[in-house]
Amino acid sequence: MRRVEKLHMEKGYVEHPIDGSLNVLEEIDRMRKEKNAVILAHYYQESEIQDIADFVGDSLDLSRKAASTDADIIVFAGVHFMAETAKILSPAKRVLLPDLMAGCSLADSCPPEDFAAFREKYPGHTVVSYVNTTAEIKALTDIVCTSANAVPIINSLPENEKIIFAPDRNLGNYINSLTGRNMVIWDGACHVHEEFSLERILELKAAHPDAKIIAHPECEKPVRIVADHIGSTSSLLRFTQEDSGNTYIVATESGILHQMKLARPEKHFIAAPPKDSTCACNDCKYMKLITVNKIYNTLKFEQPEITMDKSLMKQAEGSIRRMLEISNKLGL
Ligand code: 13P
Ligand code: SF4
Repeated sequence: MRRVEKLHMEKGYVEHPIDGSLNVLEEIDRMRKEKNAVILAHYYQESEIQDIADFVGDSLDLSRKAASTDADIIVFAGVHFMAETAKILSPAKRVLLPDLMAGCSLADSCPPEDFAAFREKYPGHTVVSYVNTTAEIKALTDIVCTSANAVPIINSLPENEKIIFAPDRNLGNYINSLTGRNMVIWDGACHVHEEFSLERILELKAAHPDAKIIAHPECEKPVRIVADHIGSTSSLLRFTQEDSGNTYIVATESGILHQMKLARPEKHFIAAPPKDSTCACNDCKYMKLITVNKIYNTLKFEQPEITMDKSLMKQAEGSIRRMLEISNKLGL
């Protein structure tokens, strides 16, 4: 059973029906003011959720917001590891996740017991883990990173440092190729980014020869090779704003297209298609579990709440703080 399913069952959260006559958006607004709550949303959320959020960002910026907000309640429109990170950084606040089943296939691909045994095989190695991991993995980690700061964080370590990188093999291989390091890489992956079809991307490129291909580093190597720009969600967004081009084939979760279109409505954005599917886009089924109605219920009933063992939070905090310290020092 997946970890989030276990948590969901343990908490016994029930869904509450919503009165159809309610103006849910107005109610969300009223409750967030009344309860001094803040809604943080990841770029992969549905457009309507991004539009009501107090802050929309990538996983690095969201962790910074969670650490600095003076709200009493954080409603996390994102996935479990993001809400967990927010709770670890703001333990005195109540952190709510509108659906506890919103997990992450990448975090699931790195079970703590297996990773602890893997780490034992490489004594003297510094462990750098992607933020897309459970708190238990962060507790076994020296420095956390996100896709926005992974390369500079690795570059900030001495050249002869022995490094284990977890859990994403694609991001790990990408970092090795850019930095010339030889990190030992955990064999994990994300179900969305591994699914993009190179063949279908190249067909799109043939139909739109002026289009630039932009890709998240969690994509497989063949997709990264044909990409004109590779970067985190915030980097891809920035690229489409600053670049002189007009059309982009976007190889990451399709939620990001909303901010791209808002910032540059005159440009044309095409969601890269997955393999073996008639669908034109690629959605993260966990991100898309969050809905406006669930956010309403979460604010109303103040659940489901993220809770963790205090000692686990303490053990996991150090590696996240280290990431924030290095990122601040490097001006990222
Ligand atoms: P970012 O670090 O770019 O926000 O990406 C998070 C994520 O889940 C990628 O799949
Ligand atoms: Fe996890 Fe992939 Fe979804 Fe990102 S897109 S939250 S890595 S499953």
